[in-house]
Amino acid sequence: MYINSEEAVVRLKSGKVVAIPTETVYGLAASLAHPEAIAHIFSLKGRPAANPLIIHLHSADDLMDYAESLPPEAKRLAHQFWPGPLTLILPAKTDVIPAIVRAGLPTAGFRVPSHPLARQILKETGPLVMPSANLSGKPSATSAQHVFEDFGAQLPILDGGACPQGLESTILAYQDGLWSVARLGSIPPEAFLPILGYIPAIIDLSAKTEAIICPGQHFRHYAPKAKLLCFPHQINETKFILGFRERSYPADKHVIIMGSLTNPASVAEGLYAALRQLDSQGAASAFVDMAFPSEGLWLTISERLRRAAE
Ligand code: TXA
Ligand code: MG
Repeated sequence: MYINSEEAVVRLKSGKVVAIPTETVYGLAASLAHPEAIAHIFSLKGRPAANPLIIHLHSADDLMDYAESLPPEAKRLAHQFWPGPLTLILPAKTDVIPAIVRAGLPTAGFRVPSHPLARQILKETGPLVMPSANLSGKPSATSAQHVFEDFGAQLPILDGGACPQGLESTILAYQDGLWSVARLGSIPPEAFLPILGYIPAIIDLSAKTEAIICPGQHFRHYAPKAKLLCFPHQINETKFILGFRERSYPADKHVIIMGSLTNPASVAEGLYAALRQLDSQGAASAFVDMAFPSEGLWLTISERLRRAAE
């Protein structure tokens, strides 16, 4: 059911789960003060308990109520990128952040979203935990309609239109004296160079390290029902193509446009809608045009498509 922002605030304060828009993707929100609502998020999504949630704050000024300490440069990162699509993994005040949020870890993820509706709500409710508002494993929701598709009429949804970024926040974690990218996202790694003096490395998920830095990265993600065929599969193995506006594809194919090759932001914005469209059109499989650049936002787009094809 669709609700307005006042109703969203009332429900969140009384321990209910509500879907709200952010600049990245829609979030399934619950108040940090209501552990029973947080538990409900896990059951609604079918989310493994080992996958922690991000705490969303109205302002960076609230951070020290929840973070135990700040690694070097954390303040400058927050100052530069908040409000906005950056999540910082920080040592948590474990006495104020319920273990269910952290999946039992001594750290927590924090971000200050920039979407005006999310900000308006956070101002009234205080901190909210928000995973992406999709069933676990499916592409994230970038419109109210996507949230409705996954959760049906029972879930209260605040419709804020399409999410302008379309990809989740970039997650940075601090380890061994350096920041690294625990999840690629809306902010490309190069954007951190001026603040950090280096481009944070992307944590290699296949590396057999003992410590799991970002648990969520080890679960299946972003996947439509349709099987995605990337290179070296042949284009003629399937009828559907996920492609780009400027390219021409064989005339007998059904092409779903992800965006423009000259504008990666347009691809980011339309990516999850394109993946979801495959399912709504009943595609069993689709060829993905992966011939695009490999720097900046394209890196995140490529990672999401590869994960969706797993
Ligand atoms: O853009 C976003 O970040 C969206 C919007 C709604 O804000 N939220 C989002 O949440 O993408 P979710 O739950 O879909 O992804 C959260 C990711 C997971 O991969 C999780 O493992 C990681 O954040 N995470 C959360 N807390 C963590 C922690 N303490 N340590 C390491 N990773 C953490
Ligand atoms: Mg998610």
